[in-house]
Amino acid sequence: MSETKEKIALITGCSSGIGMHTAIDMAKAGFRVVATMRELSRNTRLLQAAADAGVAELIEVRRLDITEFDSLAAAVAEIVRDHGRIDVLVNNAGYALGGFAEDIQLDELRGQFETNFFGHVALTRAVMPVMRAQHAASGVGGHIIMISSISGLVSNPVTSSYSASKHALEGWSESLRVEARALGIKVVLVEPGAFDTDIWERNVRIGKIALTDFSPNRDRARRFANVVKTKLKKGDTRVVSRLVTKIAQDPNPNLRYLVGRDAVVRYWSQRLLPWKFYEKMLAKYAEID
Ligand SMILES: NC(=O)c1ccc[n+]([C@@H]2O[C@H](COP(=O)([O-])OP(=O)(O)OC[C@H]3O[C@@H](n4cnc5c(N)ncnc54)[C@H](OP(=O)(O)O)[C@@H]3O)[C@@H](O)[C@H]2O)c1
Repeated sequence: MSETKEKIALITGCSSGIGMHTAIDMAKAGFRVVATMRELSRNTRLLQAAADAGVAELIEVRRLDITEFDSLAAAVAEIVRDHGRIDVLVNNAGYALGGFAEDIQLDELRGQFETNFFGHVALTRAVMPVMRAQHAASGVGGHIIMISSISGLVSNPVTSSYSASKHALEGWSESLRVEARALGIKVVLVEPGAFDTDIWERNVRIGKIALTDFSPNRDRARRFANVVKTKLKKGDTRVVSRLVTKIAQDPNPNLRYLVGRDAVVRYWSQRLLPWKFYEKMLAKYAEID
């Protein structure tokens, strides 16, 4: 076990997007980062970005699939063996399943929850004893930062599975936040709007029948897919990674951080506009009426 004073961050889903940029920004801020990904062969972009930023020394890549639940405790134990502690856990890994609710099969919905909800729950539960012990020894537990989504607060049509998984994460984390206070563990939810990552391209997942002739909604689903491609504006991912890095250094962070203008607009429109007007506007934008 190394007797180091540097802060150790464990981040999931670092092969691209928010996870990758957060690994870089946290290393730039002085954290030693254990950047995990489920396929080590996808480490190229992260390693290149780390070299370009001059922080390769501070980033260590390890394999971790958050749905391999039985392996998580051992993975955490290895990190503690090698680094002595875990100060920050960023639960970032995830994907979005698209398709009308009527067309999504139960196994597809379960798969969405396995990653976006149960994966985060399982890893959090594996890390909590480490932070609990740190708090008992030094008075400082750690930060657990959940990369949720505006879809965790406001549901979108045609991504009911994703919205449901993020709503579950929001509810679970809100309870955990209060439970973990006494342990010196700060639980935080980050709720981004649309940001330019692989989630919209390489990692996009569509229900098996959603766009096929087996779906009674196929024409509307195809129109929606086109709306996502043509109308949706996506922000610079670094805005999210910088925010996460700031939260990780804040000894007294808030519970929630909405990030992106679209997230703020969506959140407040749903709360302030009359529901019937709001839903009409949303269906019109999504071209599904
Ligand atoms: N970008 C947005 O607009 C947006 C908005 C709101 C919230 N978010 C949230 O931000 C988080 C990161 O997404 P992103 O936008 O950065 O997308 P991304 O570029 O597709 O990154 C997702 C990462 O999660 C990894 N992953 C997926 N399943 C995994 C598993 N079972 N175990 C470990 N890693 C797994 C992917 O690994 P592989 O390389 O192996 O696929 C990839 O590294 C997600 O939780 C997403 O819901 C994104």
